[in-house]
This record gives sequence, C-alpha cells and structure tokens, in this order.
Amino acid sequence: MDIIPVEDLDAAIEQYKTLGYRLDMIFPADNPRDAVMSRGDDCLRLVRSPAFSRPVAEEMPPKGGTPSEWIVGRAGMEYRDLIPDRMGGKVIASHIRLTKGGEVPDYVHYHKIDLQMIYCLKGRIKVVYEDQGPPFWLEPGDCVLQPSEIRHRVLECVPNSEVVEITMPAEHETWVEHDITLPTAELKPDRDFVGQRFFVTRLRRADPTFPNEMVCKEFVERMKGVVTPDEILAAVIDVSRSLCRM
Ligand SMILES: [Fe+2]
Repeated sequence: MDIIPVEDLDAAIEQYKTLGYRLDMIFPADNPRDAVMSRGDDCLRLVRSPAFSRPVAEEMPPKGGTPSEWIVGRAGMEYRDLIPDRMGGKVIASHIRLTKGGEVPDYVHYHKIDLQMIYCLKGRIKVVYEDQGPPFWLEPGDCVLQPSEIRHRVLECVPNSEVVEITMPAEHETWVEHDITLPTAELKPDRDFVGQRFFVTRLRRADPTFPNEMVCKEFVERMKGVVTPDEILAAVIDVSRSLCRM
C-alpha cells in the first residue's frame, strides 16, 4: 500500500475523494493522523506529519489534570483528553462537544475496541445503531454501551451538546461502513457483537450475566450530579481506574 505523508489530513481526504477514492479507515478518532482510502483495488494510506496539529482553543484544565486542549477530531466533533496519560494507553476518556446544532457530518462506521461507553452530559444528540431500531435522541444522563463493530452514526444534535466517552484501548481504529445503511430493517436487541450487546440505560434493565452492562450502570451512578470540570474529571478517573482493574 502506498504511504503518502500529508500536512492536513482532512484536506488530503477531501482531495482524494475528488479523485474517486473513498475513506475506509481513520485513526485515532480524537485527533486523526492516519487514514486508509481506496478506489477499487487501489489502496493508499495518508499519514499526517507529526509536526502538524489542529488545536482549537487553549483552556484551563480541570483541577488536578494536566494541560489539555480542544482538538477537532473525526466528523467535526471537538475532543478534549480528560486523562492525559491514558492510564498507560489502556483507556481514553474524551470530553466531546458539538458546538454547532443540526446535522452532524458523520457516516456509518464502527470501531474495533474492547469497551466503549458514552454518557450524555448536555444537550441532545440523535444517534442510530445497527439492529437496534429507529434513531433515538441521547439526553443528559443517558449512557450507551457501544459494543465493538456495531455499525452506528451520529445524525444530528442541538447546539453545545456534550458527552463523555470512555474507550479501551485508548487508540483504536474507526472503519467506514460502505454497504450497510442505518437504520437496519430488523430489530435484534440481543444480538452478540464480539461478545457484548448494545445497551442503553434508559431503555433496558442491566443484565447481571453481561458484566459490561453493569459497568455501564455504575458509570451512570458515578456521573449523577456531575456538572463542573473538576467533578467530571474525578468521576471519569474513578470509572477508568475500575475499568483498568477489570
Ligand atoms: Fe463511533
């Protein structure tokens, strides 16, 4: 596969799209530096020069944290790393904000991960998941367990929506799904995705036979009443530490 160094990954992706290439993989989601694109059998890899970065705004870190800045990640969403050392790469906790309301420039995709939970802090975000019924709105206090390889898409949001996303491992691949459109016709709430199933706290009761669903419930309990950056950081570090001991 040809490896092409680029300065601006987003611009390079758009440029290759005009040449008939499609995006297949992007890595990592919070600050992409690597993308795979293809046109028929022709495959190439775009790699961002390490010297190039896209900071949005410096912001004081939560007390107890180290400097962290908002960075434009995948699909125009802004990411801020809550645990700078990422517990040795085992976990990433991202504070994600969507400042613009309306349609989100996302596409159907999936991640290859061990565990991923998303907790809605503010606003409303419309999402859709493979085999989990029609699109629905995530609202503050809702938490999704997003199993590995489940196809999904962020559709729209109200301005200034925010989530916390905890993922293991810290760096993981996001693959574009070209063939499946969402929502899918069938509803399969108990479908197994690489040993886990989809779970959203407000729709279903946790099942003790699925330990990751219990982790998700505990995350919601720990995040209750969390509002300030200090509280967000403390809660996320607690949850991430317990995940790393799993
Ligand atoms: Fe995703």
